[in-house]
Amino acid sequence: MTRVQQNKIHGLTLRRLWLHGLAWSVLVWSGLGLHTAAAQDAPSSSNDQRTEWFRDSKFGLFVHWGIYAVPAGEWKDGKNHAEWIMLTGNIPSAEYEKFAPQFNPVKFNASQWVELAQDAGMKYLVITSKHHDGFSMYDSKLTDYDIMQATPFGRDPMKELALACNQAGLKFCFYYSVADWHYPDFPAKYSQRGFHGNPNPRADLEKYVEYMKGQVRELLSNYGPIGIMWFDGGGSFNKQPMAQLIHAQEIIDIIHKLQPMCLVNNRLGLPADYGTPEQKIPGQASKDLFEVCMTLNGHWGYNKNDQNWKSPETIVRNLADIAGKGGNYLLNVGPTAEGTIPEGSVRTLREVGKWMKVNGDSIYGTTASPLAKTPWGRCTAKSRKLYLHVFDWPADGKLIVPGLKNKVTNAYLLAASDKTCAVTQGAEQVTVAVPPEMPDKIDTVVVLEIQGDPQVSPAR
Ligand code: GLC
Repeated sequence: MTRVQQNKIHGLTLRRLWLHGLAWSVLVWSGLGLHTAAAQDAPSSSNDQRTEWFRDSKFGLFVHWGIYAVPAGEWKDGKNHAEWIMLTGNIPSAEYEKFAPQFNPVKFNASQWVELAQDAGMKYLVITSKHHDGFSMYDSKLTDYDIMQATPFGRDPMKELALACNQAGLKFCFYYSVADWHYPDFPAKYSQRGFHGNPNPRADLEKYVEYMKGQVRELLSNYGPIGIMWFDGGGSFNKQPMAQLIHAQEIIDIIHKLQPMCLVNNRLGLPADYGTPEQKIPGQASKDLFEVCMTLNGHWGYNKNDQNWKSPETIVRNLADIAGKGGNYLLNVGPTAEGTIPEGSVRTLREVGKWMKVNGDSIYGTTASPLAKTPWGRCTAKSRKLYLHVFDWPADGKLIVPGLKNKVTNAYLLAASDKTCAVTQGAEQVTVAVPPEMPDKIDTVVVLEIQGDPQVSPAR
């Protein structure tokens, strides 16, 4: 395929996506609210078209928010609980349900959350519509155990977030737990450690699947365009064939019927659109799409005793590491029962945002590093540019790029693109003269503009 052809197709995709977004905005702004049950008039898209925004976005905000924020991680003598507190505290449904009337997040402000994500350089937001505890954090007509009917809050935060994300240009996405410790038809035998808050020996998984399908329909019909349906079982179903048992393909078909552009992660028991390594970064690049999800402290849900925040340096370097392997980074916050995002996560995210404002080009729209060895840090690539993410600054001011055979036509620091760096070209390596002091202690990005596609030895 020639370059021109590629661009044409690319342009078409963008235009269609734009129209797609416009159609939704019209719905949002036309006083119809966000309600629509009609299928979107979107193209029957190839995997590549649907995943384009995702591949380019690289960085998203994960939000674990539910009535488990009320106990804030503490139950009886334990202080290390979070969103699993119902199971880890062995709390029966009748007792756990009492958190709902105490959940009144009056400080919740969707625009502030979205602004925080956007300031940090994030391009999408994934939030728990229902976690393993079975509590629906949105207005569900299929249960009373939801935020509208079981709490004094009286607002649907998902609707507010959908609107705020739409306005800010962030993709809005839902997490949804397959495992359900509250719904009477979810069999305990398929739950994590066989736990259920009110186990029912006559539980009928088929009925539960119908409920799940209904909730998926609600989520994809009432909140505008959904970027991703992010399923999670959290290790339930043990060794049983989950995809078969829950009719996973039928669920995916429902999603695509309602929203053909919506992505589905790989936790329905089928590979679907992309993989989800959790809390760790793969050692190698992969040709399959993936997204690393990770906590900012040691918990997904709010735990008031956990102040062990990852530093901005760790987050930025993780992001460069992941992007350098071709993946995305989904970074989690666990808001309080009042509706605020903990100060410690806000602090880190703001600092990450400062780095992203200067260096975002080295992350968005990039692909994995073509270089096999980057002893000083990581590398990302975009068209004819290599972004060298330097974590260990060379004491002698000579940054060696092993294995790069291309002619380098320009080299500069991304933070100071007008100041070029001298380059010495060897047969199998390039040496860049960099300032003696490391300009950005978190990650200084050196840009190399190269002639032709990357030629490296050994090949990655
Ligand atoms: C695990 C946890 C779950 C969390 C998820 C995020 O599966 O069980 O609580 O939501 O990770 O990836």
